[in-house]
Amino acid sequence: MSKGTGTLTTLGRHLERRAISLKPAVKRVGVDAWFPYYAGYSSVFVREALAGLGAEPGWTVLDPWNGAGTTTAVADANGCDAIGFDINPVAALVAAARLERSSNTAHSAGLANEFLAVAGRNELDVASDDPLLEWLSPRVTRRYRRIEGAILSLLGTKDGVKVNLQSETPPPFSAFFILCLVRAAKQFARMKGNSNPTWVTPERPGDTRTETFDRAFLAMVATCSADAEKAALARSSVRSTASTVSLADARELPLEDASIDAVVTSPPYCTRIDYFRATAFELAALGIGPDGERFRALRSGAMGTNLMRRTTPDVGSQPSVVRQLLKRISKHPSKASSTYYYKHYLQYFDDARRSVAGIGRVLKPGATALLVVQSSYYKDIPVPLGDLYSALGEELGFRSRVVLRVPVRRVLALINPRAMQHEAERWYSEDVVALQRVA
Ligand SMILES: C[S@@+](CC[C@H](N)C(=O)[O-])C[C@H]1O[C@@H](n2cnc3c(N)ncnc32)[C@H](O)[C@@H]1O
Repeated sequence: MSKGTGTLTTLGRHLERRAISLKPAVKRVGVDAWFPYYAGYSSVFVREALAGLGAEPGWTVLDPWNGAGTTTAVADANGCDAIGFDINPVAALVAAARLERSSNTAHSAGLANEFLAVAGRNELDVASDDPLLEWLSPRVTRRYRRIEGAILSLLGTKDGVKVNLQSETPPPFSAFFILCLVRAAKQFARMKGNSNPTWVTPERPGDTRTETFDRAFLAMVATCSADAEKAALARSSVRSTASTVSLADARELPLEDASIDAVVTSPPYCTRIDYFRATAFELAALGIGPDGERFRALRSGAMGTNLMRRTTPDVGSQPSVVRQLLKRISKHPSKASSTYYYKHYLQYFDDARRSVAGIGRVLKPGATALLVVQSSYYKDIPVPLGDLYSALGEELGFRSRVVLRVPVRRVLALINPRAMQHEAERWYSEDVVALQRVA
């Protein structure tokens, strides 16, 4: 039986009293800046959410859509065993790196120099189809792969076999160095912005000397280990934790029934953001190019993806408010509403339903999941995501409620200038939905 879950009313009051900001500070610093994920929430929110839920050291806290790992980092720092899943290997890498606790700046600098020495003895050549060649010069790409090989052979093996970064998340300490390498390399990649801030495309590969790249890697390791040391100061010393981050699909949680004390998470919103395009450079660094089968498979499994899957989900299993929304969308006069957009939203809510059902399965009786979501619009039709998740939860047997509603000004949907048309009458909010498993 889960301890101290409290009532949803008390939880709502707790969050309201704290008047917390769900959004992270505009300018992120320290570990929060390691990967400025487009749609993350703040560490303060996770801390207050856990306090409001009555979390204690020793609780198992899950984030099935873990992104850059705010939940896993904060829960772990509070003495909980955190479990984070994400479908995107880049997100999982960052979240894993934030769990590392063995570094101090001197130790990390020593190891980074060791990697460079090992890389110098490595004869490995770059495959002609290496996706990093789209972004970096052949020379920098070769150096990158050799340093990566050194990190994985010294720190990133499981049962004597090097971790395959395309399909596995390395343990935290090697994830930390791989992330430093990726971030250093990004400084050498030529990026071209786009009106959509989640898109980056290569402009032309830069060409730089190997020594310059090595120096950038060492500098990045120094910066990130200073960040990690600072973050470690906030860590509870009550108990040593057993937190993990891995690649998994939130629709098929690889967890035992009734094993989780609390969930704090933020599912992808219904705003057609392509998290995979947004991480195209980092995915290429992990060996996943934009034209390959793996990239396509990842994008297709992502919730809210623009790719249409072959099978059409059953609308009948949705709660009536979702069915009404889908009906309004399909009847909208604008182009492709009754075809593509109807199916897009149906696919989203089918993924949401399957994931929420899975959350219900893994939560302990009486335990609560907190979902942070943002409302949006389809053309002029409001999509009140918080209320819809709440209805979905109720349909699946949870006690559910929007426990906090925060109006928001600038939202992701506005990156499309045409979406500005009806702006005056529009109202957006960010909601915290609580889904409590009935005891
Ligand atoms: C809104 S973000 C989460 C942000 C996170 N709370 C943070 O603070 O960084 C949603 C995440 O869900 C992930 N995602 C999308 N589809 C998924 C799926 N089917 N299974 C697991 N994760 C998925 C995306 O890759 C993205 O990282």
